[in-house]
Amino acid sequence: MHLKKRIAIFASGSGSNAQKIMEHFKNHNDAEVAIVLTNNPDAYVLQRADNFEIPTHIFNRHEFYHTETVVTLLKSLQVDIVVLAGFLWLIPENLLKAFPNKIINIHPALLPKYGGKGMYGDFVHKSVLQNGEEESGITIHFVNEHFDEGEIIHQSRFRIEKGDDLEMIKFKGQQLEHLHYPKIIEQLLKKMKSI
Ligand code: GRF
Repeated sequence: MHLKKRIAIFASGSGSNAQKIMEHFKNHNDAEVAIVLTNNPDAYVLQRADNFEIPTHIFNRHEFYHTETVVTLLKSLQVDIVVLAGFLWLIPENLLKAFPNKIINIHPALLPKYGGKGMYGDFVHKSVLQNGEEESGITIHFVNEHFDEGEIIHQSRFRIEKGDDLEMIKFKGQQLEHLHYPKIIEQLLKKMKSI
């Protein structure tokens, strides 16, 4: 038994959210990041994990969708919560079943709007701008077998001012993500006492 709750982070790219989560739980009394996993050998998140001396695991499509390796690894590390932070692949059924209601994701828009397959990164923000929305935001939600459809845990919003461009909207959203994601993970772990 580990004394602290254990977090696994999945990320496919830069990992700025992963960075904030690793910062938040470094020297934390009750929880720690146990591992960072990625499908992308070139993802900058790997460097970030190294900087925190957090172990990493890189997997390919076959391993992820047709073997038990990832589930076995997470179970052997006694992971309590799986956190997706810019992870672009759909979660397979074996992983969902192994961690029921313990896999969460962050999405850079106010779901159910601007979600679903292909709605990631700049595609999201460009659609928001094109539609002349007056606000956008972030959504943290449980993960199920569909992209961006699980139960919503938290949303924060920001106003889109006249003249806000893609970069500004991205920036506003990212500020909210970095602020809220670590705190929401902490709250969920507190509620998960009896795992
Ligand atoms: C974030 O905007 C998140 O909402 C989405 O992917 C992006 C990841 O960014 N799921 P980063 O890699 O954490 O910088």
